[in-house]
Amino acid sequence: MHCVVTGGAGFIGSHLTERLLNDGHTVTVIDNCSTGRTANLDHIAGSPDLTILIKDVADAFVTAAASDVRATTMNVGSDNTYSVDRLVELLGGDVEYIRKRPGEPDCTFADTTRIKELLGWQASVSFDDGVDKMLENISYWQAAPVWDKATIADATAGWFKYLKD
Ligand SMILES: NC(=O)c1ccc[n+]([C@@H]2O[C@H](COP(=O)([O-])OP(=O)(O)OC[C@H]3O[C@@H](n4cnc5c(N)ncnc54)[C@H](O)[C@@H]3O)[C@@H](O)[C@H]2O)c1
Repeated sequence: MHCVVTGGAGFIGSHLTERLLNDGHTVTVIDNCSTGRTANLDHIAGSPDLTILIKDVADAFVTAAASDVRATTMNVGSDNTYSVDRLVELLGGDVEYIRKRPGEPDCTFADTTRIKELLGWQASVSFDDGVDKMLENISYWQAAPVWDKATIADATAGWFKYLKD
């Protein structure tokens, strides 16, 4: 099949592209590189290990595209909720707490009932294994921009415009 992946130079799209190529499809990537980087596609010629980082999401997309289900919204999620504290614990290193941002939810939890029922899909990579794999491959993000106080303030300026304490 010939597939078109919009946003294919982004994090999810680049791994979806890799999965489709591995499945034997031809792929055209359309991306305006507003947040994505063509470097995100370099790994397709490189480490196959990276696919596991986004394996579940790519699986869900491929399963949905191959199904007869149309015009329905389905959540893709782990079927669980994890705290930022737990993520920080797994990542290790020093911790600095900052004040809660206005409108920031205390907890988000994707309801995956529909995707399980309609597609029989569910996540297979555990949160801990996913973080482990990400840490093993952390050099992949070496060139990724790192937030500092100025750039995060700029990127989240809209939140403060519309949300109040
Ligand atoms: N990564 C996650 O954990 C996560 C979780 C939940 C939801 N999402 C959502 O999934 C989507 C993809 O996430 P991601 O992490 O891959 O983001 P990303 O920013 O890495 O990828 C998005 C890609 O779309 C491209 N793009 C944006 N506007 C475009 C346009 N008009 N034409 C062509 N290309 C365009 C960007 O350049 C980028 O490459 C986003 O909508 C994100 O909010 C991501």
